[in-house]
Amino acid sequence: MVPKHIALIMDGNGRWAKSKGKPRTFGHKKGSETLKQICKDAYDLGVKYVTVYAFSTENWKRSKEEVSFLMGLLRQYLNESIKNSEENNMRVRVIGRRSDLDKDIIEAIESLEEASKEFDGLQLQIALNYGGRDEIIRGMRGVFQHLLDNDGSDQVSKHDLKLAMQELDEDKFSYYLDTVGIPDPELLIRTSGELRTSNFMLWQLAYTEFYVTDVYWPDFNRTELKKAIDAYNRRERRFGGTTK
Ligand code: FPP
Repeated sequence: MVPKHIALIMDGNGRWAKSKGKPRTFGHKKGSETLKQICKDAYDLGVKYVTVYAFSTENWKRSKEEVSFLMGLLRQYLNESIKNSEENNMRVRVIGRRSDLDKDIIEAIESLEEASKEFDGLQLQIALNYGGRDEIIRGMRGVFQHLLDNDGSDQVSKHDLKLAMQELDEDKFSYYLDTVGIPDPELLIRTSGELRTSNFMLWQLAYTEFYVTDVYWPDFNRTELKKAIDAYNRRERRFGGTTK
């Protein structure tokens, strides 16, 4: 079976570039081209949702030059995606904390999301200024905000607070996450060999199968994607004792 939703940690751009005697930015450029191709391949193979980790809340700590290059690449990718999403019937959404991004990037995200919202081919989520913990905290803030908005008076009553606490469950909480309406990934692929989640989709990966390959992201291709899907299929999927 082909997983419906694949999450991707696109790692190894810098090492790939270094292995070719090129600057890290060269790897990011090639990495963005790899992403375009992998989206087509994934959909062609039957995948419906792809979520990629493009820029983490930690990535701001990289050199000024690299951050600015990555932002430029994202800007270009978002702008080009209006045409690309139409050609491929692809819906694009961006997850992560938007408020820290440059105004023109926020506008590009909004235009792209609006322009592609009816496309029912591949559903692509780009994680941008994203951190799993940050998403959960923002989700909590959303819950509190909902309580404040729903209470007509200046104060939220203890009664309402108690009721909200009793009613809150996993389904209701997930409504406040960036991925609302998107099913959890069945498969996470991480390239370039690191065995970490690096703060990616902490909530959504609870039952996800992990696949790690030594291949650097710029070299990841359809054959490697098929290998990951094959490996996923060879595993016996177990959820809390029952096999699905
Ligand atoms: C990790 O490689 C990759 C990133 C931090 C950025 C991922 C970005 C892209 C694939 C291109 C831009 C994306 C879009 C959506 C346009 P690394 O730099 O950490 O590599 P290293 O571990 O070898 O140093």
